[in-house]
Amino acid sequence: EVIEQISLLRNRLAAYRQEHKQTQIGYVPTMGYLHDGHASLLRRAKEQTGLVVLSIFVNPLQFGPNEDFEKYPRDTERDLQLAEAAGVDIVFLPSVAEMYPKPTQTTVSVKGITSRLCGASRPGHFDGVATVVSKLFNIVQPDKAFFGLKDAQQIAVITQMVEDLNMPVEIVPCPTLREADGLALSSRNVYLSAEERSQAVVLSQSLAAAEAFISEHQHFTSEELVEAVKVHIRKATLGEIDYVEALAFPSLEPFTSIDTVTEKRIIVALAVKFSKARLIDNQIFPIR
Ligand code: PAJ
Repeated sequence: EVIEQISLLRNRLAAYRQEHKQTQIGYVPTMGYLHDGHASLLRRAKEQTGLVVLSIFVNPLQFGPNEDFEKYPRDTERDLQLAEAAGVDIVFLPSVAEMYPKPTQTTVSVKGITSRLCGASRPGHFDGVATVVSKLFNIVQPDKAFFGLKDAQQIAVITQMVEDLNMPVEIVPCPTLREADGLALSSRNVYLSAEERSQAVVLSQSLAAAEAFISEHQHFTSEELVEAVKVHIRKATLGEIDYVEALAFPSLEPFTSIDTVTEKRIIVALAVKFSKARLIDNQIFPIR
């Protein structure tokens, strides 16, 4: 069932809630051009909730002026087939005019955790994400919303927003799905040339190097760990490092020595620019 209008979706979901008082509504927000990573979120939603809503909306608010909003890959026909196969009940497919009939004067801005990683290299990006996800949560009012750890900072931002603003929704983090050679699935992988695609394997390989480094060293600085990762990424001659950072998780606080980290986990997160694609990846490691 495909619904394009907010009012129709609200009516449909209100009727469903009326009839199925005990059933939870699960929600997976996406920007479309769906792949198996998205499908894994949908499958998880299907396992945990009674009605699964998928939204497909390429949100202009989260793209910078020189980013790929216009060129972002779109294939609604194929997306709807994938959604059907994954057991989605309702697809919400609003137009930009439906979501933003007038320029929005209200935005949601999460401070602190947005100052690093993608927040630093994409100014305004997470305000756009937090604002559209708030709008979508208000429209769908799901019991549970499913997000991929591929975008670990996005999950941290959304979790913080939900907590700070007392939004009545449970955020469910889901693992990153990868290609056989380790490359994280992403809608933006289509931007890679054949040669870049074969070099892109350095992203996940460099995270494996981080894992090895962590298990081989008792005491180390974040700088040493980051350097061990960068050595691997530099093997991709066609890729340029945007950032590599090692931070405490989930706070995303920087640390100097690993001995000073009070949290139980750290995250190594990275972004690499190829000619048309900027790819991100990360891995979360338990420490001690
Ligand atoms: P999009 O990039 O389409 O991603 C939608 C969801 O799929 C996100 O939660 C993302 O983390 C997850 N995802 C992407 N690749 C994945 C992979 N390889 N394995 C597991 N999950 C994966 O993220 C967005 O859209 C937007 O910012 C959005 C939240 C929809 C707001 O506009």
